[in-house]
Amino acid sequence: MTFIAHISDFHVGGADFNEDVFFNNVDKVNELDPDFIVFTGDFTNHGYYAEYVKTTEYIKFFKSMLFSIPGNHDARNLGYETFQNLIGERSWARNLSSNNENNDKIKYDATLKEKHMFKDNEKKCWTKKNNGSKSFVDISNITLVGLDSSDPDISDGSVGRPQQLWMEEILADSYINSTFSIVAIHHHVLPIPKTGRERNILLDAGDILKSLTDFEVNMVLSGHKHVPYLWKIENTLFATAGSFSSLKLRGSCPNSFNTYEIEEDYVEATLKPYRKDDILLGKHKL
Ligand SMILES: [Fe+2]
Ligand SMILES: [Fe+2]
Repeated sequence: MTFIAHISDFHVGGADFNEDVFFNNVDKVNELDPDFIVFTGDFTNHGYYAEYVKTTEYIKFFKSMLFSIPGNHDARNLGYETFQNLIGERSWARNLSSNNENNDKIKYDATLKEKHMFKDNEKKCWTKKNNGSKSFVDISNITLVGLDSSDPDISDGSVGRPQQLWMEEILADSYINSTFSIVAIHHHVLPIPKTGRERNILLDAGDILKSLTDFEVNMVLSGHKHVPYLWKIENTLFATAGSFSSLKLRGSCPNSFNTYEIEEDYVEATLKPYRKDDILLGKHKL
């Protein structure tokens, strides 16, 4: 079994950032002791350097491994450069394996990142080679891909053709090797109910949705709307997380994060709302 915490949208530096809620949720995540944590964007509110410095102090409180991608707020005011300087790569891919005799915890190697530099990739778009669906998914081997969907100083997002081709190459390997695949992307690929008029969706959502479902990505993790939701389209689960610590919330929707329990034959997604009981988002067969 692999247990993942999905957190999003801190908005450090914003007037609506609530430090009490932040630390309460950090404690909750640490108590759960996930194998790893995926953060899906908007660490900061304005992308300011000082907000990033503060963020690097905050994320030290998480005890589990944390993988993160930028959101639209992080890309403001040259924040896309600061993300790279203080946090890490904005797009990346990792192999995670729980096949380690000495340690139950998941291990990762960074080889995928070095192997695939999407800026240099001029290969043709991959097409799905197999008309059937994945008959077996090896949950002890996880392919985790982080995409940068932010564009400087605008709220809309896009993946862009070069990054899409880079992702498809990795997803093709995952498909062939039957690894459990997860893609993290800040902007939601599918509309989220109860978020008002649809806006700031990915500009190339249709192309990305096709890639994700063609390669039967097991899970797509997003943030951005501060509203948790779970869609299943074909064989792919699309999960969005609420805001971890910003009070920019809709209606009575509280701060929250998600967890995912991945077993041999199913994925169980749970919402962890602030100071409220857990809510089952869904339990889906693999
Ligand atoms: Fe946000
Ligand atoms: Fe956002």
